[in-house]
Amino acid sequence: MQTLPSDTESVSESVPQITPQITIDLLVILEKDPYLYFLVDKKYPLPSNYEPDDLIPLRNAPNISYRVNRNDLSLRREAVEALEEMAAAALREAGLTLVVSSTYRSYAYQTTVYNRYVNQYGRAQADRFSARPGHSQHQLGTAADFGSITNAFAETPEGRWIYNNASRFGWSLSYPQGYEEITGYMWESWHYRYVGKELAKFIDDYFEGIQQYALEYIFRFLNQNKTS
Ligand code: DAL
Ligand code: ZN
Repeated sequence: MQTLPSDTESVSESVPQITPQITIDLLVILEKDPYLYFLVDKKYPLPSNYEPDDLIPLRNAPNISYRVNRNDLSLRREAVEALEEMAAAALREAGLTLVVSSTYRSYAYQTTVYNRYVNQYGRAQADRFSARPGHSQHQLGTAADFGSITNAFAETPEGRWIYNNASRFGWSLSYPQGYEEITGYMWESWHYRYVGKELAKFIDDYFEGIQQYALEYIFRFLNQNKTS
């Protein structure tokens, strides 16, 4: 379902040995919604008109475990459910309230955000922390930014908790510290993508928690199976 690139060579080669178990685990993931494992990075964009059809607004309410700090946030239905499950656990297990600061962004909105940063910092610097339109995981409706949207978040109890627990609930840190060469972006301790529990475990089990490696692996697996 992802468009075939002409040069799969450029996708990194950080691949574990192919074993029967990794293939079995991967086949389970491939049964899920393809947008959970769709590679969206600097090189591979979403279809320009992609817009999820099951966005749900996020609201503060007494029966909701997370908090939102603006009223125009939304995520895809499955991501909202997983967010609530994770936030309820943070509250129950550690007495912490997760605060959501940014979620779905349309192509048009990402254009505004990116252009603002380019005007402020110049294109080269903006490209290190802001995705060009079509290239943002936020357009998937499954990515969320938490807390302050600064790396001070990493040192907060909430930042530490989510770093250690997100994958149990199907969330994955997209831009880890020290991986700018791999992901294309500076460390963003606040940016998590919902990928589903199976893929989050797959990322941990086979790729040491590095989402980019796992998504590239799946991408390459699909291409090889399409062309053979
Ligand atoms: N800050 C991330 C890379 C985005 O703009 O999607
Ligand atoms: Zn983000």
